[in-house]
Amino acid sequence: MLSLNGNKFYILKNIRGFSKLSKEKKINWICENFFNGNKEAEYVLKQYWNNNSMLQKLHDDFSENVVSNYYLPFSIAPNFLINNKTFAVPMAIEESSVVAAACNSAKFWKENGGFSAQIIKKEKNGQIHFFFKGKKVELEKYFSFVKPKLFQKTNSITKNMKKRGGGIKEIKLIDRTNDLKNYYQIFATFDTIDAMGANFINSCLEEFAKVFIESTIDYENINKNDIEIVMSILSNYVPNCIVRAIATCSVDKLNSLHPETKNFTKKIVDAVAIANYDIYRGVTHNKGVMNGIDAVAIATGNDFRAIEAGVHAYVSKSGKYQSLTHAKIQGNKFIYSIEIPLSIGTIGGVTDLHPLVKFALELLGNPNSDDLMMIMASVGLAQNFGALRSLVTSGIQKGHMKMHLINLLNKLNANENEKELAIKHFKKHKINNASVEVFLKNVRK
Ligand code: MEV
Repeated sequence: MLSLNGNKFYILKNIRGFSKLSKEKKINWICENFFNGNKEAEYVLKQYWNNNSMLQKLHDDFSENVVSNYYLPFSIAPNFLINNKTFAVPMAIEESSVVAAACNSAKFWKENGGFSAQIIKKEKNGQIHFFFKGKKVELEKYFSFVKPKLFQKTNSITKNMKKRGGGIKEIKLIDRTNDLKNYYQIFATFDTIDAMGANFINSCLEEFAKVFIESTIDYENINKNDIEIVMSILSNYVPNCIVRAIATCSVDKLNSLHPETKNFTKKIVDAVAIANYDIYRGVTHNKGVMNGIDAVAIATGNDFRAIEAGVHAYVSKSGKYQSLTHAKIQGNKFIYSIEIPLSIGTIGGVTDLHPLVKFALELLGNPNSDDLMMIMASVGLAQNFGALRSLVTSGIQKGHMKMHLINLLNKLNANENEKELAIKHFKKHKINNASVEVFLKNVRK
């Protein structure tokens, strides 16, 4: 018997064929082995099943061993003016104050010209990592021989992408033997147009690897056994897939947003500067940016883990972790911007399968991937503005706890009347776990 933080876990025999069990049987197994046969656990899982069996089946098929659905709030942030178009942006996130902050920022910036966004560059990449024992010059000659074949032999994979204007852009041989003995890469760049492109890139890379090995048969000076392919995979580091969004207004206008705070605009600029110089602050600052971007990524069926990984590597590219956003004052002008790598898609993946994702994209006017990159960058900038605005004025907790109050009340099983009284009371009082508990105790006396 193992004890993890006081919970008892039994060492179970490996279960074989779990994935083949029906959903019902999987749940039974979980209840019997982890909940002492308690039916409560079964109820928790089943209450999220959808009555629409077709819809449920669709979700079951997205993943392996599905036993339930996991809900996230799906919210709308209206009033995003981006490149002179107004968007109502879908956001899927559970953190209570994120959407409210995005909405407030969007409204302010809409009244001040909105966001102007552009794609700076848009290239994806992937690598074949391999070891080669022979002479580098021979490998280089062999690479020149094999390179046209890499393009030719992937024609069937790239045909449709080429029709849409994309495909493989370049394939290079890279010597990394200074880092690791005998280590080389085939480094390929791609234009995946409106797809995120992970499947396309990985399929191309795996075919390249096969052709790279097989073609040694037709080439005298390279022995197949001297090449050892380790792996072929896209990279989520996409420093050449960059979008920029900018928002500007006069310093006077921005100061007038918080007349009670001396030097409000300067404080925003200082807050961004601090994020640039201090990694502890920088990570939190960027997390706030990603609150908005991830929420749009999830709502539009994009892989937020890939985005997150790429973004944090990008802000560390100089060797020093930096802010995703930039702010400066020029004369009486406040200039606020974000530059961010976003490898996302508006076709492929679950974008044409998941009904809410389809809805989200329709709501955004069925954007192409450039448009969605620009929307996401603008939301990230707005989200950062919302956070900094609170941080340099009232502090984050006031707004955050106001939004979180209802969660605390729900946790304490408050009824509608108690909630109403609490909302009124906490307009004038500090909200925290203890104060809400005390308030409810008094009300219930
Ligand atoms: C909370 O999810 C995000 C913030 O911490 C961001 C920030 O500090 O800039 C409020």
